[in-house]
Amino acid sequence: MSIVSKELRYGIIGSGMMGREHIRNLLAIDNCEVVAISDTHVPSRAKAVELINGVTQFSDYREMLSAQELDVIVIATPNHTHLNVLNDVLETGLHVLVEKPLCTTVKDCQLAIEREKQTHRDGRVVWVGLEYRYMAPTARLLNEVGSGTCGNVQMVAIREHRFPFLEKIDNWNRFNSNTGGTLVEKCCHFFDVMGLFAQSQAVSVYASGNQDVNHLDEIYDGKRSDILDNAFVIVEYQNGVRGMLDLSMFAEGSKNEQEISVVGSSAKLEALITESKVRVGLRANGAAGVEEFFVEQPLGVVAGFHAGASYLEHLAMQCAIRNGTKSDVTLLDGLNSVAIGQAAHLSIAQRRVVQISEVIS
Ligand SMILES: NC(=O)c1ccc[n+]([C@@H]2O[C@H](COP(=O)([O-])OP(=O)(O)OC[C@H]3O[C@@H](n4cnc5c(N)ncnc54)[C@H](O)[C@@H]3O)[C@@H](O)[C@H]2O)c1
Repeated sequence: MSIVSKELRYGIIGSGMMGREHIRNLLAIDNCEVVAISDTHVPSRAKAVELINGVTQFSDYREMLSAQELDVIVIATPNHTHLNVLNDVLETGLHVLVEKPLCTTVKDCQLAIEREKQTHRDGRVVWVGLEYRYMAPTARLLNEVGSGTCGNVQMVAIREHRFPFLEKIDNWNRFNSNTGGTLVEKCCHFFDVMGLFAQSQAVSVYASGNQDVNHLDEIYDGKRSDILDNAFVIVEYQNGVRGMLDLSMFAEGSKNEQEISVVGSSAKLEALITESKVRVGLRANGAAGVEEFFVEQPLGVVAGFHAGASYLEHLAMQCAIRNGTKSDVTLLDGLNSVAIGQAAHLSIAQRRVVQISEVIS
């Protein structure tokens, strides 16, 4: 049976919060099944097994890779484990979705790209889980920009004002050494989306940020949590577009978790993610002419975290697998989004503008 018609058989590596979000979405999609899961943590495995009838479970993902007949692997383990797990998966030739951030450093992203080349298989899809681009209001804004509503884009501002990081298994997300730092771990999503609006490559970054409010008293194995909880990041692009990220992780009192504004020569466009609204304000029509739309989720989207984006991400990936087309979200996209985050952390540490060429050698 060809891959076009057969059921895609999935194996999940890491069945924590995000692994289970993937499972819930895959269960809602026809012509695919989750046949195996692997996790080193017994309670994470047990929670995943509750979701899927007859799934086979493994404590060691390498055993799963050799024991099960699989088509697609989802890697949803902590950030600092991605490179090693991805290297093992790439050896198998299976299609793979690796969660964001691709890796915790640009250097590791480069190693992953090198490994993909060494193990290259025609038609194999390698996908990075930067799914914010599929959120309905963001996708609508990207369409508007693509169709020219904005004219020439000049400024892209993304605000994330939200609650603190959730608790994770073994508290891996409380340390920069495991996550890559907040501006890599969380904000790679926004730098990915910013680049799509800018339609250009980032050249320099200036950032100011700190850990001021959250996790200050949290100590694990004698070490205090060191993750940043607020920042402003300014990104300059090759084509002259300016981007800005405004992050606060102690802003539960915010109506929209994320807001995006794109201003160009003809219009200002806005996406209010939580309210699922888009605003289009043509310069010619002034403030009185701003139009506001509610953006419907496409039919079938699974409700829950990430506003349906994970579901759409899987549909898009399956489309690429079945049609033999390229990944929408490549390892290079993964690297570029990590590079801006890494440059921002360097900028904060050294209080200076950092060139992207300093982090991508
Ligand atoms: N795309 C998104 O919007 C999004 C959202 C949240 C998390 N994530 C990413 O998903 C990944 C997982 O995050 P999470 O929130 O699910 O964390 P989590 O702590 O809830 O789950 C991680 C799981 O991986 C397991 N694990 C660790 N090492 C393993 C190994 N070698 N083999 C198998 N399992 C292993 C842990 O036991 C745990 O159950 C991270 O990379 C994170 O950045 C992405």
